Amino acid sequence: MRRRVAILISGRGSNMTALIEGARAYDFPAEISVVVSNKANAAGVAKARAAGIPVEIVESRPFGKDRAAFEKALQIVLDQRSIDLVCLAGFMRLFTPEFVQRWHGRMLNIHPSLLPSFPGLDPHGQALKAGVKVSGATVHFVTPDTDAGPIVIQGVVAVKDDDTAETLSARILAVEHRIYPAAVRLVADMRVRIDGDRCVTEGAVAPDTIMIAPGA
Ligand code: GAR
Repeated sequence: MRRRVAILISGRGSNMTALIEGARAYDFPAEISVVVSNKANAAGVAKARAAGIPVEIVESRPFGKDRAAFEKALQIVLDQRSIDLVCLAGFMRLFTPEFVQRWHGRMLNIHPSLLPSFPGLDPHGQALKAGVKVSGATVHFVTPDTDAGPIVIQGVVAVKDDDTAETLSARILAVEHRIYPAAVRLVADMRVRIDGDRCVTEGAVAPDTIMIAPGA
């Protein structure tokens, strides 16, 4: 049976769109059952509706700092839709350790850096400041620390001397759109397992299954 995925967004939703498109493949082992936005006016909301995906708005603002109360409202939606896997796609809200524990091994995030380097805000600016020659994006299981957890897939791009945060982020975004559907495929197929802080891929895998380097 195809695994039921909820995509959580707060913004433009380009990774959400990549997941929706990836899930259209006849052999994709998961279906996008719902998109949940914590902002009614997020650009991704209209895109999800246009793609024919059910959308739920769970506004976080009314809950203020009461994260647990927001998560309770979110959990109701996830339960109603019998969700197996949660994909954070530009979802800009932190979870309580309790919520993270509840979804342990069943919640993924994407972050535009080669974690554990440059978690948190402005990862592109952080990468440029550090002068790294490669950067990229990471899909990982969510743990209580921000932008941390067992790594499923990474995608790599070269950093150019004249890159700005904008040019670097555009190049990385193209990689994000490739690795997120690939990661969901691996997880939904149950070809990965969490082993402590690591995510281990079962069986023989081609190197490009877990690392994508388009040579850009
Ligand atoms: C993406 O670049 C994603 O990696 C990043 O937010 C952007 C959302 O764009 N996430 C984080 O920085 C998480 N810490 P999108 O809405 O177009 O997918």
